[in-house]
Amino acid sequence: MGITISFGIQKGGAGKTTTTAITAFLLDKAGKKVLAVDFDSQGNLTQFLTQRNIYDFTKRTVLEALKEQNVEPYIHHVSENLDIVPAEDLLITFSSWLYQKYHGTDPSRVLRDTLESVKGEYDSILIDLPPNLGDHTINALTASDFAVVMLQSEPFCHDALDRYLEMLQLVKTETNPDLVLAGILTVMLDARTTLDTVILDRVRSDYENIVFQSVIKRPAA
Ligand SMILES: Nc1ncnc2c1ncn2[C@@H]1O[C@H](COP(=O)(O)OP(=O)(O)OP(=O)(O)O)[C@@H](O)[C@H]1O
Ligand SMILES: [Mg+2]
Repeated sequence: MGITISFGIQKGGAGKTTTTAITAFLLDKAGKKVLAVDFDSQGNLTQFLTQRNIYDFTKRTVLEALKEQNVEPYIHHVSENLDIVPAEDLLITFSSWLYQKYHGTDPSRVLRDTLESVKGEYDSILIDLPPNLGDHTINALTASDFAVVMLQSEPFCHDALDRYLEMLQLVKTETNPDLVLAGILTVMLDARTTLDTVILDRVRSDYENIVFQSVIKRPAA
């Protein structure tokens, strides 16, 4: 049985999609079977991994998989070991569908139930989250075994951390008691900027044992 990992934070532009895509690429290269799930209506992961226009996938996306609770017809092959369930902007309608048309018992478990049938076929399922704390994020965290929390070392993203960790705790209490916080991953650190370094030091002191030692730095200009 594979493991499901989500990459999230409600702050935009914090490296969620890039980190999901690169992790998928590296696992693929290492011979691991990976399913990437684009769970953001921006469709950036879809574009990144398939190098195609997101509208090429209209009506063949994660949204249709959710509505039918059947993901298999919506899995697209990307490379030897890598598949994707794509997204385009109509994924934004997931919440209204959930509250108007969904007749199941638990609206937070729809993604989890949808992915269940293929979980055994992959070593890893990686979910890219949108920059908000809505139904997509709750569903993705409910579907996850591990949550990676993204931190771009800048003030707004730092401010978003506490609330995201509260959301993780809520999901753990309400819908997914087995969810494990993998850690806080710092990306795009500019080590030449004092503010970036101050924020990383503060996060390390506030959340000591849950911050990954590895830090992804911005390439030097
Ligand atoms: N490790 C990295 N090194 C250099 N640039 C990066 C890195 N990670 C992300 N970026 C750049 O930062 C920008 C935002 O990244 P990305 O789209 O992955 O963020 P996001 O959190 O998914 O954004 P959104 O919340 O809008 O979905 C992009 O231009 C991306 O190329
Ligand atoms: Mg993104």
